[in-house]
Amino acid sequence: MSLLRSGATDATIRGLKPGGRAATRVMPDRITRVSRYEGPVNVIPRLKVENLTRCFAGRCVVDHVSLSVMPGEITCLLGPSGCGKSTTLRMIAGVETQDSGTIYSDGRLLCDTITRVPPEDRSIGLMFQDFALFPHLSVAANVAFGLKGDKAAKRARVVDLLERVALSGHIDAYPHELSGGEQQRVALARALAPRPRIMLMDEPFSGLDNRLRDGIRDDTLSILKEERTAVLLVTHEPEEAMRMADQIALMRDGRIVQQGAPYNIYNAPVDMAAASFFSDINVISGVVQGALTETAFGRFLAPGVADGTTVDIAIRPQHVRIDFDRAGRGPLPTPSDGTPARAVVKRARFIGKESLVEFQMDFDGSIITATVPSVFLPNAGTPLWLTIRRDRCFVFPRR
Ligand SMILES: Nc1ncnc2c1ncn2[C@@H]1O[C@H](COP(=O)(O)OP(=O)(O)OP(=O)(O)O)[C@@H](O)[C@H]1O
Ligand SMILES: [Mg+2]
Repeated sequence: MSLLRSGATDATIRGLKPGGRAATRVMPDRITRVSRYEGPVNVIPRLKVENLTRCFAGRCVVDHVSLSVMPGEITCLLGPSGCGKSTTLRMIAGVETQDSGTIYSDGRLLCDTITRVPPEDRSIGLMFQDFALFPHLSVAANVAFGLKGDKAAKRARVVDLLERVALSGHIDAYPHELSGGEQQRVALARALAPRPRIMLMDEPFSGLDNRLRDGIRDDTLSILKEERTAVLLVTHEPEEAMRMADQIALMRDGRIVQQGAPYNIYNAPVDMAAASFFSDINVISGVVQGALTETAFGRFLAPGVADGTTVDIAIRPQHVRIDFDRAGRGPLPTPSDGTPARAVVKRARFIGKESLVEFQMDFDGSIITATVPSVFLPNAGTPLWLTIRRDRCFVFPRR
């Protein structure tokens, strides 16, 4: 397994100071981290899921899903609608039973095909999109609902949490007196109140408008980090996942197709679908000969791909480089940028902080889209030259 594909080793890499080296051993239920700087550290995942599978009428909607989340870490389960995200969460919460697979928390078995800890004994907090506050209870009573212990301790916890979600002034209000965002923060405080070891969040921010959402997301993130809760957050929005997550588990058709830090998933996608899930993608094609493929943008490396295989080369719109036309000529080719190809602007749209420019390529009439700073908004028909940086494109054999 490559270093960056493994959640365990990736956690080690993040903890390492520049220049350091880490030796990592992965054992069945614990991860041993040894670094030159930190000395040996043993960390048992707060949540560990192994080969979780659930099938309905012969179709496996969750298919051998494995992942682990450390205390204080946020993992996003990211994928398109219907790929099995909520079903995975429901099995971890204990409200749905898996066909096979195991779930551990801090090394304790929560569930396999024989053992089954009931949902209320799993120390799992839930926050779903359609969270429901109790309408007949005040904000304070809603937050205190799941708390045990003496009255003073419960009150102290409620006051502390409401302060942290900036709702101290609404402690005696009733849910109908609050805005949607405020209700959401009460729901968060209520879910956090019993200090769950794990928090499962299913699209918890999708009911909010954009501005409110950014603020609540950031506040939620910092509270969850402070509480050292392990969070598994479901979303189908890549921006949300990249903003929130320490780790992303990219899911498709019931399987996790790629796991890693957002930076790695974005910059080293495993296939074309993973690349295009995060942004629009331009694709150019070529046929491999001697581990190289020749295109109008010059040659691209295709190591390990058999001669005669068609490859698709993917490039995100923000990585297309644009140069001016100088009397019918573009910039000189370079090893890192390849060969410039001539195009004319078909359409340019101003979309705020950037412009979206569609080019029609001279060589075959195909369309390539580029995003550029919005100070640049060329007229339709303008001839320009495009180059594609080698370190910014992904080459995939066509399936
Ligand atoms: N109880 C059930 N019986 C039959 N099929 C089910 C059941 N629960 C879920 N499914 C199917 O499993 C698939 C995955 O559903 P799930 O709710 O996990 O998707 P999701 O990734 O959460 O999607 P969304 O982003 O739309 O919420 C869907 O095709 C759904 O129809
Ligand atoms: Mg869902």
